[in-house]
Amino acid sequence: MPIAEQASSTSLDLTWIRSQFPSLAQIVNGHPATFLDGPGGTQVPRRVIDAISDYLAQDNANTGGAYHTSRNTDRMIAEARAAIGDFLNCDADEIVFGANMTSLTYAMSRAIGRDLGPGDEIVLTLLDHDANFSPWKALEEKGVTIRAAKFNPADCTLDMHDLARQITSHTRLVAVGYASNAVGTINNVKEVVRLARQAGALSYIDAVHYAPHGLIDVRALDCDFLVCSTYKFFGPHMGVLYSKREHLKRLRPYKVRPNTNNIPQCWEWGTLNHECIAGIKACVDYWEELGRRVETGLAPSERRQAECEGRAKPSAATRREAIVAAHQAIHPHERAMTEKLIAGLLAIPGLKLYGISDPRRFDHRCATTVVRIEGHTPLELATKLGERGFFTWDGNYYALNLTEQLDVERLGGFLRIGLAHYNTMEEVERMLGALREIVTL
Ligand SMILES: Cc1ncc(COP(=O)(O)O)c(C=O)c1O
Repeated sequence: MPIAEQASSTSLDLTWIRSQFPSLAQIVNGHPATFLDGPGGTQVPRRVIDAISDYLAQDNANTGGAYHTSRNTDRMIAEARAAIGDFLNCDADEIVFGANMTSLTYAMSRAIGRDLGPGDEIVLTLLDHDANFSPWKALEEKGVTIRAAKFNPADCTLDMHDLARQITSHTRLVAVGYASNAVGTINNVKEVVRLARQAGALSYIDAVHYAPHGLIDVRALDCDFLVCSTYKFFGPHMGVLYSKREHLKRLRPYKVRPNTNNIPQCWEWGTLNHECIAGIKACVDYWEELGRRVETGLAPSERRQAECEGRAKPSAATRREAIVAAHQAIHPHERAMTEKLIAGLLAIPGLKLYGISDPRRFDHRCATTVVRIEGHTPLELATKLGERGFFTWDGNYYALNLTEQLDVERLGGFLRIGLAHYNTMEEVERMLGALREIVTL
């Protein structure tokens, strides 16, 4: 049955979108499964699942061999690199694949740290996920000074004045999150990159949480590094690092001797998860098709026919343009759901929302919310919602500095409700009803 709301708030074809994700059709304890756990990991479209199993069925091989399946593997990895390059707006040789964002960040921080010592400083933020904090803090063992910019506790936005104060002529790198995986704040990373550059420092952007919600353009940001995790934007469990080519060439990776000295492969440790890389290519294909569909409302084959007959609207010429179109289309849908979600949450007695709650400032937040409700622990709320088929999360989600600063770490952190573009208004309404019922029972 078509999703009723689709025409009212957005040009997104939610019926088509949801049909792409097999897991969304599950029933749990007699309730439709409602995935509000996107910040912890999103669901994957059928084509990603198929690409992973097709790779294992047909091309399963190591790289660089002088035979059919190995050559296919090399070609597939090159295609996936180019696809993610389009997703981030960079060249394929500026893309490094890795197990996840955390391990890529440890690897890059070790390499950058080789040239650092006493007198050098790194600026971090207290709003960030620990994966963009601890790998840099570990460089204290080399004598590097670590500084951490504060956030404003009232609305959980980054204190840009404090950040600017912390950046000095001793700063070698500024590491900052694009969006908070807890409170949903979107940081002004373009300004952070500018401040870092002005001080002669490198910028390292953790875009893990932002990637499913907003368009990333590393060229426009002019950042030195940017990391994300494909399992947060409808792909398989892997991480991706973008680095300006000059840094990949200049910095010295820790690597085994027989590995190539060519970039970007010299930054990739051991044998990668090839089947997941096949899934990454399919994930970008999904974004591309989503973008082409929202422009024309037609499937590619129908669009070709419509173009022949002169009926089609002009569509994206390139994969990148289609990805841009996809983001433009999901934004109003996520925004409308966020407005409904936050208004509904704020109406629940005893509930405290952490983060931006004024709809006029929603351009500075994404569709991720955290709350606490008087008299209920986050774990209790997540468990009761889970029994009713609503998948949310409790705890700190590794945003440890944030939960410590807000003094909720000792209280079980927050309940996190995170929306993705495949969620619906109806799901938001049902979850709000269930939460109201749980707290008033
Ligand atoms: C904002 C943010 N940064 C970093 C990470 C770590 O990513 P990974 O699991 O790929 O190491 C996460 C994971 O939740 C995250 O949300």
